[in-house]
Amino acid sequence: MSINLSEVWNKVGKGWRHLNEQSHNVQNNIKHLESSIQHISPPTRIIDWGPGGGYLSRYISQKFQTVNTIEFIDICDDHFELVRNTLNSIPIVIGHKFVDIDSVKINTNPDLLIAYSVIYHMPSIKYVTDILEYWNSTLQPKEIVIRNMFNKHNNWERKPNQYSVGNNFLRGNLISLEYFATKMNNYTFIEKEKIQNVKHNNCSVDHIDMKIVMKRK
Ligand SMILES: C[S@@+](CC[C@H](N)C(=O)[O-])C[C@H]1O[C@@H](n2cnc3c(N)ncnc32)[C@H](O)[C@@H]1O
Repeated sequence: MSINLSEVWNKVGKGWRHLNEQSHNVQNNIKHLESSIQHISPPTRIIDWGPGGGYLSRYISQKFQTVNTIEFIDICDDHFELVRNTLNSIPIVIGHKFVDIDSVKINTNPDLLIAYSVIYHMPSIKYVTDILEYWNSTLQPKEIVIRNMFNKHNNWERKPNQYSVGNNFLRGNLISLEYFATKMNNYTFIEKEKIQNVKHNNCSVDHIDMKIVMKRK
């Protein structure tokens, strides 16, 4: 793929609707997160993978009051200052720029990994698989909270040549829940709830929008 993802996300990020805390998307994600976090233990150290404006990890830290470190990792440079402002009450906040999986240098064994509305943005099965393997075998969070669009089979949501700046979002690959579970085989599902079936006119396959909580075995 010749596309420079970081460059594309920087363009998308500038108008990114998720950066507005009051937007429907952020509020909707917080609503779903609210029920998921009832299943987790109070975390001290959180990793927020693809934080947008950082509102979801701030929400968790306000709920639990136990959080002292949040590390976030994003492909989009434009989010970094905003996320730091959002998380300014957290004692330790460390931001990482995602370039490729081999250069990720996050502290391992966090209490919680949150990746909300991120995986379905990734551009290829290999890219997703490498990140899931990293979570499963290297990062090893105790608990994981995810919202993601899945498909019945691993499939492109759009044709690969349509993977570019769309309206104000960039979406690529959908994996199946079974594939996800196979790659995250050190974890068991605590919550696995379908939020909705989604069909967009401009996408080639149906989505199953799900929220998931997993615990390390
Ligand atoms: C739809 S937004 C979700 C933001 C936030 N999690 C929320 O739910 O409000 C997707 C986020 O993932 C980031 N992102 C996209 N691809 C990524 C990757 N490979 N690694 C890390 N972050 C990525 C984007 O820059 C953006 O911050």
